[in-house]
Amino acid sequence: MKFTKANHLRGELQIPGDKSISHRAIMLGSLAKGTTEITNFLQGADCLSSMACFQSMGISITRNKDTVLVHGKGLHGLSKPEAMLDVGNSGTTTRLMSGILAAQPFESSLNGDASIQKRPMKRIMEPLSLMGAQIESLAGNGCAPLRIVGKPLKGIHYQSKVASAQVKSCILFAGLYADGETSVTEPYVSRNHSELMLSYFGGTIKTEGTTATVLPEPVLSGQKVSVPGDISSAAYFIAAALLVPGSEVLIKNVGTNPTRDGILRVCKQMGADITLLNTSSTKGEPSADLFVRSSSLHGTVIGGELIPALIDELPIIAILASYAEGETIIKDAQELKVKESNRIDVMVSNLSKMGVDIQATDDGMIIHGGKPLHGAVIDSKSDHRIAMSFAVASLQAEGVTEILGSECVRISYPGFYEDLKKLSQ
Ligand code: S3P
Repeated sequence: MKFTKANHLRGELQIPGDKSISHRAIMLGSLAKGTTEITNFLQGADCLSSMACFQSMGISITRNKDTVLVHGKGLHGLSKPEAMLDVGNSGTTTRLMSGILAAQPFESSLNGDASIQKRPMKRIMEPLSLMGAQIESLAGNGCAPLRIVGKPLKGIHYQSKVASAQVKSCILFAGLYADGETSVTEPYVSRNHSELMLSYFGGTIKTEGTTATVLPEPVLSGQKVSVPGDISSAAYFIAAALLVPGSEVLIKNVGTNPTRDGILRVCKQMGADITLLNTSSTKGEPSADLFVRSSSLHGTVIGGELIPALIDELPIIAILASYAEGETIIKDAQELKVKESNRIDVMVSNLSKMGVDIQATDDGMIIHGGKPLHGAVIDSKSDHRIAMSFAVASLQAEGVTEILGSECVRISYPGFYEDLKKLSQ
């Protein structure tokens, strides 16, 4: 797909539902007794993978546009899937569901696309094995395909090396079936949607500092889940409005959970004009409308505990930094290397092609921003966040930007290009 410079972005936008919350609503809805009604469910390919996996374990799930009904059968209501579970491109489906599968009274196996087959699963295999699970990487490389033989599990206190909500949630979900308390301590707090939703569905879970602790065998009951707009998707429009002079955009109903709002903090640090309006909170998940005006930005330093709160936004932050005056340093972000693509390499090579002075480091990148960017042919590596980031980069670049593999936005934001076009007219 080809892109050229935009005049300005104006108008109002409703962002699709949060991907992380949509996944969890399918999973906990399946493990709860009774019906869970999910509104503003994200109909992206990743969440549809989670839905299909639980359907093939005997859960009836119906969808009418973005409202989903999950007819849960309780913690012990899943049945053995007949075929290999297909997780598509979704790391969240793979890791969270593995925690659940590890405790089932049946054997299962799961696999996904070429990207999933390269993503590290040892980070969940190790703690699940400590709990007594039998989980094996079929290729012997610590990646999917995985074979999981359900076993009785014991509770553990796990010290995770990475701040990862997928690892934490996997262990906590397995902990629902353990013989005692299970806790996970992380180096920094990662997104806490699993903890909030478990508690809302009737689970017993507490968080102290960077440790989350769950008690086993709760009676979970179906609930109404209203999914806020995904701040990770809103990030592209925040950036577009900031970068293109004369822009004014109102982004409605965006989730602003403090474990996810790092993008807002960094934009403010860089000099952005963003106002939060109509703030509210549902079952512990805050949200707000974001009013964004084009701003002149300056470089900043991003690292430490901020990283998990904006891990998926680092590609679009790199675009902002490329247009900002001065130096931006992104550090402590090694996790970027094991996302849907190696996001350090892919950002550095593609931004270099557009004329940006950027260097890769071991744990991030250093960008000297403020020079004009020009169009180029961008290889998205079929990574949705790379494709959307460069669509935004093109809006202020001279000439034509062509994004290869642009259709991968279906993973998290199927209507992305239409929404971008609507606001740029
Ligand atoms: C997610 C957690 C993050 C994030 C991913 C979604 C989740 O991954 O990058 O897009 O829903 O738990 P990690 O836990 O691997 O950091």
